[in-house]
Amino acid sequence: MPDTLTITDNRTGKQYELPIQDGTIRAVDLRQIKVQPHDLGLMTYDPAFMNTAACRSRITYIDGDKGILMYRGYPIEQLAEHSEYLETAYLILSGELPTKTQYEEWVREVKLHTMLHENVKKLMEGFQYDAHPMGIFLSTVGAMSTFYLDAKQIFDEEARRHQRLRLIAKVPSIAAYAYRHHIGRPYVYPDNDLSFTGNFLNMLFKMTELKYQPNPVLERALDVLFILHADHEQNCSTSAMRGVGSSHVDPYSAMAGAAAALYGPLHGGANEAVLRMLEEIGTVQNVPGFIKRVKGGEGRLMGFGHRVYKSYDPRAKIIKQTAGQVFEVTGRNRLLDIALELERIALQDEYFVSRKLYPNVDFYSGLIYQAMGFPKDMFPVLFAIARTAGWVAQWEEMLLDPDQKIARPRQIYTGPKSRNFVPREKRA
Ligand code: ACO
Repeated sequence: MPDTLTITDNRTGKQYELPIQDGTIRAVDLRQIKVQPHDLGLMTYDPAFMNTAACRSRITYIDGDKGILMYRGYPIEQLAEHSEYLETAYLILSGELPTKTQYEEWVREVKLHTMLHENVKKLMEGFQYDAHPMGIFLSTVGAMSTFYLDAKQIFDEEARRHQRLRLIAKVPSIAAYAYRHHIGRPYVYPDNDLSFTGNFLNMLFKMTELKYQPNPVLERALDVLFILHADHEQNCSTSAMRGVGSSHVDPYSAMAGAAAALYGPLHGGANEAVLRMLEEIGTVQNVPGFIKRVKGGEGRLMGFGHRVYKSYDPRAKIIKQTAGQVFEVTGRNRLLDIALELERIALQDEYFVSRKLYPNVDFYSGLIYQAMGFPKDMFPVLFAIARTAGWVAQWEEMLLDPDQKIARPRQIYTGPKSRNFVPREKRA
């Protein structure tokens, strides 16, 4: 016997049987529940999508209570230990880990696309010297749609493959150019002898040396951070990517929307906000006072809490370990002690414990980025580079899913009832 939900409508006394599949009912099945035949039918009210599955997805699995995160079935801990970002990106995009030959071909193809069109560079030069690099990043990604005429051919598999490669390959170049523009240094062209992450460090930090040699510990640490940020199922920016993409716009325009969503301090901008918070707290002695203010409703403990994780974010655990390796090279970030004390107090404080607020991915990542020499406003851009794999994979999954249509939520109208227009001179 199939699982069903029986609903009795007290307004009419009628009973309805709704099928349950995968632990969900279909919201449109509620539409048959009406008082009058011409009614629209029952809707669900779910601001911020607290309890609504908007898609079926085969990409990322999260169990928020147990602190489990998997890409295509592979636990994040194993990928962080054994994989490389480009391999993880391949896995996220294609569904399987590549064979050795497939991987070599994928890396070769990505490297073919790392250069930016010279006009993209000129476009970026138009930004003010103090423009936030994330603002530059998201505008430039959007502008890329005007450079690739096949971008609009979203149902052509070969065209999609091209945009996928271009996006994965070019986002580090855009991010690095945004940074160099910000600090007034000349742009550095990609060096394809280096790894994906090594080349990114080259484009950011190369000075007058003939060849930039990335520090292998920092290169690996950044690669691990990229793996940890590569996808996270239906978060705010991915929902934006799917939502904007559902109008069948090109992927660059959709990704500009996703990057804009990521920019906010409640999402990918949180790593930047964590660092500002730690600097504001200033010393370990000030931590109890800060926690008291947060509990009193004066602001939030940034880098804590998550819509899905109600236990320790598994990514935060890995980042904490990675921080140790990075600090051995760069020296200890003086803000680490404040972060550790915040975590220590919060994890035993009734306010945070009862609300299941634990460190999330952003709590420690900023400390690593800062120790590696990144300014705070580059942190969300680093997140965006890594998340490109997830955004593009989720966008393609949405496009090819026969269940999907243009995203268009309903509303409960609470405005005035119908009224007649009053000429301006007669208004009170
Ligand atoms: N500090 C203090 N209190 C908090 C925090 C926090 N960081 N997060 C949640 N709370 C409290 C809320 O005030 C609320 O308390 P109440 O029930 O007394 O009103 C309760 O915990 C539930 O919080 P909500 O805002 O309802 O939780 P929601 O799931 O909507 O928000 C979010 C999740 C946005 C991540 C939130 O925890 C937050 O603002 N955290 C800080 C910002 C942050 O670190 N964002 C990064 C998230 S990870 C990522 O996007 C990559």
